[in-house]
Amino acid sequence: MKLLDLQDLHVATEDGVKLVDGVDLVIAQGEALGLVGESGSGKSLTALALLGLVRAPLDARVTRLAIAGQEMRDADETSWRRLRGRSVALVFQDSTTALNPVRTIGSLLVETICRHQRISKREARARALDRLRDVGLQPHHADAYPHLLSGGMRQRAMLALALANRPRLLVADEPTTALDATIQLQILHLLRRESRDRALLLITHDLGVASELCDRIAVLYHGRVREIGSAARLLSTPRHPYTRALLDLVPRFDMEASIPTPIPGSPPAPGEQIQGCSYRLRCPRATEQCLERPTLEGDADYKIACWNPLND
Ligand SMILES: Nc1ncnc2c1ncn2[C@@H]1O[C@H](COP(=O)(O)OP(=O)(O)OP(=O)(O)O)[C@@H](O)[C@H]1O
Ligand SMILES: [Mg+2]
Repeated sequence: MKLLDLQDLHVATEDGVKLVDGVDLVIAQGEALGLVGESGSGKSLTALALLGLVRAPLDARVTRLAIAGQEMRDADETSWRRLRGRSVALVFQDSTTALNPVRTIGSLLVETICRHQRISKREARARALDRLRDVGLQPHHADAYPHLLSGGMRQRAMLALALANRPRLLVADEPTTALDATIQLQILHLLRRESRDRALLLITHDLGVASELCDRIAVLYHGRVREIGSAARLLSTPRHPYTRALLDLVPRFDMEASIPTPIPGSPPAPGEQIQGCSYRLRCPRATEQCLERPTLEGDADYKIACWNPLND
């Protein structure tokens, strides 16, 4: 069963600047999909759109958006409120602004649980403590205010909140950025475990992290998916030059020269008009043909948007 079916997402500014430009994402039950790409490629906006959280002056449009079988394209705020925190939950990129500073972690958890489940406060409190334990926090952290926790603990509290009602689709936006390597691994394993019979969209700029955790990976550049396929295939034989460049950024500890190669140039500024493929200005394989925009082509298992792919 598809727990996420997103077709043709567009997010634009009031002035018509395209920030996300026709993204399709499908995630089946039991599947983890990684969404990777450099800063500014549109990852967080895609995540927000999946929860109906893109706000004016930005505008989000889709041809289709179904979450756990529920059609959400034309849903009003009431329907979104019913869905959010229950069928779909988001772990925000920035845990400092996402947690209400004047509420304890425990009371936030109890509130989220009670909003969607008809259970007593007492039961909700017991569940809240369970969720804290799930993410490696202690029962006494329930009484803590967000600012009293370290960055890593706040991130785990965010995760506990997102998992409070065991959502069928979990969207995690850079959930481990603020964490040290050990806790990062713990959280990644937790995410993997939690998504086993559900669905996970993991957003990260780190292809290494995505490959650890995800079955499939979608590579986003300048608001468009450039390559999407199984994690194993993208890692072993990337075909899009941008995927190759992202892979070269992952440090390799098995090599003597482990300093990664930066991608030349910088991503286009929002609204920058580039004729054809917008990666061509940084691409070592660009040809005349790239002045025409390639479309994303392939089958259900693998798609690419490139005129001159590698490994052919
Ligand atoms: N509210 C907004 N108004 C105008 N532009 C915005 C707004 N939010 C995001 N953008 C622009 O949209 C583009 C995509 O932003 P987004 O936050 O989705 O990037 P990202 O891929 O999540 O990057 P990062 O890895 O840095 O988190 C960026 O160029 C950003 O400047
Ligand atoms: Mg982001």
